[in-house]
Amino acid sequence: MPDLPKRTLGKTNLEVTQLGYGSMGLRGPATWGVRVVDDSAADQFLNLVLDKGVNFIDTSPEYGVSEERIGRFISSRRDEYYLATKCGCDYIQHDDHLEVKHTWTKEVLQRNIETSLDRMQTDYIDLLQFHGGDAETIQQAGLIDVLLDFKSQGLIRFIGASSSLPHLPGMIALGVFDTFQMPYSCLDPRHHDLLTTAAQSGAGVIVRGGIAHGGPEAEIDRPALFDVWNKANLDELLSHDMSCAELILRYTISHPHCDTTIVGTCNEDHLEENISSIAKGPLPSEFYDKVTYRIRCALAAQS
Ligand SMILES: NC(=O)c1ccc[n+]([C@@H]2O[C@H](COP(=O)([O-])OP(=O)(O)OC[C@H]3O[C@@H](n4cnc5c(N)ncnc54)[C@H](OP(=O)(O)O)[C@@H]3O)[C@@H](O)[C@H]2O)c1
Repeated sequence: MPDLPKRTLGKTNLEVTQLGYGSMGLRGPATWGVRVVDDSAADQFLNLVLDKGVNFIDTSPEYGVSEERIGRFISSRRDEYYLATKCGCDYIQHDDHLEVKHTWTKEVLQRNIETSLDRMQTDYIDLLQFHGGDAETIQQAGLIDVLLDFKSQGLIRFIGASSSLPHLPGMIALGVFDTFQMPYSCLDPRHHDLLTTAAQSGAGVIVRGGIAHGGPEAEIDRPALFDVWNKANLDELLSHDMSCAELILRYTISHPHCDTTIVGTCNEDHLEENISSIAKGPLPSEFYDKVTYRIRCALAAQS
């Protein structure tokens, strides 16, 4: 298995693997979605992710039992991974589903940090990100100071925002964040320029959706992404040794400012495939340009 390339995550100076792990799929029963990963599969998979050298894990208090599983199954290996979670999460676990909402108060942030540290069986979190929110609300509620206070207490090392349009530009303009997490892939390139804006602010850039859920054959069907793939006729560009997932993932890391992409998977073959794809590096520029051109035409025809 090839070594995973690493990049410096902006001003955090953390050396993170370009393939990170998004643990939303480990959320467990009575949450949402169709697939439920049980404890033993989660245990095996989290340990496999570390065995393969992935060193950056993203989670959130609102991903069901994901944080708790990280604590139970890999906290004994805490020095092998950087841990990113989120705050502003005001969730209610009902018998049959998880109700998720975001509330921007000091009390919710305090509750989130205490619960996250406890669930993940750790004394510190490397990166605490606002789970959404907008600059005005967060500033007015004095929440940046709350995160800086957590930092001065040694509970967290860096602060970030997991955001998207239309709120992301305002969050970047605040100039206080060490990282930004945002969605991006060739099939959904709306945040392309914002990766650059975020990086120019000195922040590290974490991409979610970087494998676009695996493309047309995804476990979770995403008709909009499927349409873009088909309209751009990207199947035509695949060869016997390049899968759809490889094309999408290598396109994502071809963005010069993508420091890491937190791909979610609970499938060992997919993990292997994602590691080999990332190890192959960015797409050759001529190939990248062809993909870009086809997608631009497909999206223009759609609008
Ligand atoms: N607002 C936020 O902050 C926010 C929102 C959403 C997500 N996130 C974070 O981002 C992470 C990634 O989530 P995402 O929504 O962006 O999803 P994603 O990583 O783009 O896609 C995950 C899906 O792709 C499939 N997949 C992975 N590798 C594959 C491969 N090689 N071939 C085919 N399918 C493959 C997985 O299925 P298999 O299990 O079958 O491989 C899974 O269903 C989450 O875990 C979470 O940490 C954050």
